[in-house]
Amino acid sequence: MPKGTIDTGYFSELPEDINIANLNPELFPKHIAVIMDGNGRWAKARDVSRTQGHKAGVKSLQEFITACVKLGIAHVSAYAFSTENWSRPKLEVKALMTMFAAEIEKQMPLLMENGVRLHFLGAIDKLPENVQESFARGIEQTAHNTKLTLHLAVNYGGRQEISHAVTRLARKVSLGELKPEEITLEHIESELDTADIPDPDLLIRTSGEMRISNFLLWQLAYTEFYMTDVLWPDFTRYDLLRALLSYQKRERRFGGLG
Ligand code: FPP
Repeated sequence: MPKGTIDTGYFSELPEDINIANLNPELFPKHIAVIMDGNGRWAKARDVSRTQGHKAGVKSLQEFITACVKLGIAHVSAYAFSTENWSRPKLEVKALMTMFAAEIEKQMPLLMENGVRLHFLGAIDKLPENVQESFARGIEQTAHNTKLTLHLAVNYGGRQEISHAVTRLARKVSLGELKPEEITLEHIESELDTADIPDPDLLIRTSGEMRISNFLLWQLAYTEFYMTDVLWPDFTRYDLLRALLSYQKRERRFGGLG
């Protein structure tokens, strides 16, 4: 598929409201951040367990990643588990951890086939050993993939990330490596989990919630938001196209006059 053209085969069951000719690959975001919300409500509506809802969420993420690869999006950051999610019932946390460890292994063929490199955001070193091991294997196996980097945020909090960056910079100051008045935005950025990754151009949040929920607080400074009522397990490749159509109409001024 030549660069800049859309794989119409993959998007062949277009709903009537989407005109694929209106999509302009030159205006696609380089980095999409996504808050995958609504798994619990999806499960409740079907009278199945919340774990079933999260499993359906994984399927949705698979489709999302595949569609992003087809569209040539270079980075996706997906919020899988926040630092605040530890306060959920123990059983749900345990089920999520088990799912993370197992799914990274299970998804490996799809990640390799699609050229997806895995990277993690958050305090991964505080996760159960088996989850850490599975993530480390995922990073190693996908290290040479180049089509898309999937930044999975697990045990991630934006405030915590900034606080860690401040600690590291303070250490440099105390060692005499840096003067306080020399600290620039670039110094701070280089200490974040997202160092060397472009800021998200587009943030998608599903399930009708209108919050950032401690996700990428620094990085979302000039990101365009797309909120939809669709619950994450129901979010399809066509919902992604709707988000892109909305995004490409925005005039991004970054605080200037455009
Ligand atoms: C929010 O829905 C969703 C989560 C806390 C978990 C998201 C995780 C995934 C979709 C799986 C990611 C997969 C891998 C392999 C890392 P919610 O439970 O808050 O839904 P609710 O608001 O309807 O209760």
